[in-house]
Amino acid sequence: MTEQPDHPPLGATAGRPPWERLPSAFRELVDDSLDSPVASAQVQQGGFTPGVAARLILTNGTRVFVKALPDDHLLAHRYRAEAATSKALPTGVPAPRLRLYRDAEGWVLLVFDDVEGRHPDLSPGSPDVPAVAAAVEAMTESLTPCPLPDVPSASTICVPMIHGWDELAADPPADLGAWERDNLPLLVELEAAWAARADGPALVHGDIRPDNLLITAHETVVVVDWAKPRRGNQWRDLTDLIPHLIMAGHIPDAAERALHGLQFWESAPAEAITGYAAAYAGFWTRMSRKPDPPGVPNLRAYQRRAAGAALAWTRFRTGW
Ligand SMILES: Nc1ncnc2c1ncn2[C@@H]1O[C@H](COP(=O)(O)OP(=O)(O)O)[C@@H](O)[C@H]1O
Ligand SMILES: [Mg+2]
Repeated sequence: MTEQPDHPPLGATAGRPPWERLPSAFRELVDDSLDSPVASAQVQQGGFTPGVAARLILTNGTRVFVKALPDDHLLAHRYRAEAATSKALPTGVPAPRLRLYRDAEGWVLLVFDDVEGRHPDLSPGSPDVPAVAAAVEAMTESLTPCPLPDVPSASTICVPMIHGWDELAADPPADLGAWERDNLPLLVELEAAWAARADGPALVHGDIRPDNLLITAHETVVVVDWAKPRRGNQWRDLTDLIPHLIMAGHIPDAAERALHGLQFWESAPAEAITGYAAAYAGFWTRMSRKPDPPGVPNLRAYQRRAAGAALAWTRFRTGW
């Protein structure tokens, strides 16, 4: 990975409790279910869920990856959703196999096949950029039509969440940028424009970003963290790369050009994409001003950077 000194590295995200934090009886249950006791555990960085995330080596040499969260945690429903989605993904999707799922004794726990890989480098000129874009496009193709019958639609899940200008306009914070302040009414309109076009035929991963992507030694792009599944547009996961390409150093024009030629980008309605860019800029601008959630000290700084990227993208698309 190239150095990105102006922001926390991908690893500096959520505070991760060690594997040993899990009750010993529960760890024994995992040992039994995996047919071999855990020999060592390495805490894994990346992501914003303050749960256990560790790569385990079992005494028989097998490597697995474990995530666990107390079952009354605010985000426990995400782990349950991730288990349901992971179990049901078609075999062609490049995602780690779920080996074990337990929702018992106060913990929600998922154990996956371990993926030996690195996060992609999305900076300009990196060969990971076309590889990741092509992999996300192929993934969406294999997830259309949506293979999971019970996944909620994007309009029910994402639209109530991915917005911000409406709330910011109602009570503009003193530190809001001049451009945002001048354009607030137009931004409110713009973010509403994608809401009407959020639905679609595909299973959307919903959280495509570098820390949820691993590239193996064979250059296979593996997608992890299927905790936010929804039924939505075929352009959604691909388009979610754009703010991350900008955060990694692309100018907005170059970030969009990285997707040129890919069918789900080329066929996406321009107004929906512009509305989506504005909605994400509003979401991150709004969320970055909230207090830190417990155990996740780096989230707001990340959201401030993300807001900057989505704002640059919105300004590029609107020409305002
Ligand atoms: N199957 C896996 N094998 C190895 N490492 C993994 C695996 N799945 C995830 N990771 C690593 O652990 C980090 C956190 O996992 P993730 O599922 O994204 O959790 P979170 O919900 O906290 O974002 C990822 O950013 C990645 O670096
Ligand atoms: Mg993650």
